[in-house]
Amino acid sequence: MVELPGDKSISHRYAILAALAEGRSEIRNYSSAQDCKSTVECLRSLGVGIEASKDVVRVSGVGLRGLKAPRRALDAENSGTTMRLLAGVLAGQSFASTLTGDRSLRRRPMRRVIDPLTRMGAEIRARESEFAPLEIRGGKLQPIDYTLPVASAQLKSAILLAGLYTEGETWIEEPVRTRDHLEIALREFGAEVHHRNQAVGVRGGARLAGRGLVVPGDLSSAVFFLAAGLILPDSELVIHNVGLNPTRTAVLDFLISMGAPVRLVSVQMREGELVGDVAVRHALLSGGTISGAAVAQMIDELPMLAALGPYTEQGIEIRGAQELRVKESDRIAALAENLRKMGAQVEEFPDGLRVAGRSAGRLHGAAIEPRGDHRIAMAFAIAALGAEGETTIRDAGCVAVSFPEFFPILERVVER
Ligand code: S3P
Repeated sequence: MVELPGDKSISHRYAILAALAEGRSEIRNYSSAQDCKSTVECLRSLGVGIEASKDVVRVSGVGLRGLKAPRRALDAENSGTTMRLLAGVLAGQSFASTLTGDRSLRRRPMRRVIDPLTRMGAEIRARESEFAPLEIRGGKLQPIDYTLPVASAQLKSAILLAGLYTEGETWIEEPVRTRDHLEIALREFGAEVHHRNQAVGVRGGARLAGRGLVVPGDLSSAVFFLAAGLILPDSELVIHNVGLNPTRTAVLDFLISMGAPVRLVSVQMREGELVGDVAVRHALLSGGTISGAAVAQMIDELPMLAALGPYTEQGIEIRGAQELRVKESDRIAALAENLRKMGAQVEEFPDGLRVAGRSAGRLHGAAIEPRGDHRIAMAFAIAALGAEGETTIRDAGCVAVSFPEFFPILERVVER
C-alpha cells in the first residue's frame, strides 16, 4: 500500500486561490515538491501570510486586490506552473513586478503567456521578447475571447487568473481539453466558471472565500510506481488516494489498452476532484502509439511511458509531442540518449520517438544523465529495475522538483 504526496498542479492552484481569497484557508496534503514551495515563496513575497508545516499549508488570504509589490524579483526556480500562473495574477496588479527562474526555466517559451496577457492590457517585457525574466507592469485588464495556440493548462490557467481582474467574462477555447483543476478550484473558492462546447469562461471580480481543502495524491507521481509494478515479476501494488480527474487519466486508459491490469477502487468526489485507489499487478504489455489529443492529456507521463517501451512486445511510439522539447529539459533528446545508453533501440523524430520492444534485447545498466530533469531521473530509475547490471543516475536529487520522497518510497516498494 503506497500513499503519495499531494498533486503538484492542484497544490499550486489551491495556494494561489487561497492567497487571493478573503479569510483563511487550510490546505492538507499540500505537495512536498520544490515547485510548490516556489509558489508559496513567491506568494509570501507578495505579502501573503503563509504557514507551512509538514503537509499542511495555512494561508491568510489577502483578497483579489490585496497583494503587495514585492521587494525583489519573484523566483519561480524550476517551476513553469509557478511562473505562468503568477504571470496571469501579476498582470492584474497595479504594481510592477519581475518573475524569474533557474537556467532551465529562463530558456522555456513565455511568448504564449505574454501575448494574451498583453492583449488584456498588461505590459510585459521579456528577454528577447520571449524568455524570463518577465517584467510585468499590471493594469486595468479587459476580458478576451482567446483560442489557445498550444494545448497548455498552464497557459489556460494564466488567462483565467487574469480574467478575475476584468469586468466581464473571459473565454478560452482549447484545441484539446487539458487539466481543469483551476476551473474546479475556482468554483470551490466561489468564482463563476462556465463551459460552452470546448470553451471555458470565467467572470471577473469574484470575491473568493478562504476554506479547507485536501489535495489528492499525485497521479503523475503514481505512474512511476505503476510502471515499477508492471515491470517487476510477481508485483502487486495499491496506491491510495490518487487524484483521478478525467483530464489526467488518459495515462491509465493507455496502460489498460496495452493490457495492464489497472483497477480503480473506492472512487469518490472530494472538492470537485475524483479521488480513489489504483491497483496494479505485473503483466506483459503489448505496446502502442500515443499521438493527437492524448499527448497533451498525458504530457507529464510520456517520459515514463517511453522508458517502458523496451518492456513491451511491440515497443512504444510517441508522435505530435514537440512540446516535450520545451519542458524542464528537451525530454525527447534526453529519453533517446539515455535509452540508447541502456541498449534500447530508439528512433528520434522532431515530434517524438519510437522505442523498440522486447525483441530488441534486454536493457543493461548505464550511467544516466537526466539533464537536471526530475521526470527523466525518475523514469530511468524505474526502467533500471528490470535492466541487467547497475544503473547510476547523476544528480538524482533533481527528483525533489516534483517528488522528494521518490527514492525512499521506491526502496520500500521494491523491498516488499
Ligand atoms: C501543468 C501543465 C502541464 C504540465 C506541467 C503542469 C499545470 O504543462 O506539463 O507539469 O499544472 O498546469 P503545460 O500546460 O505547459 O503543457
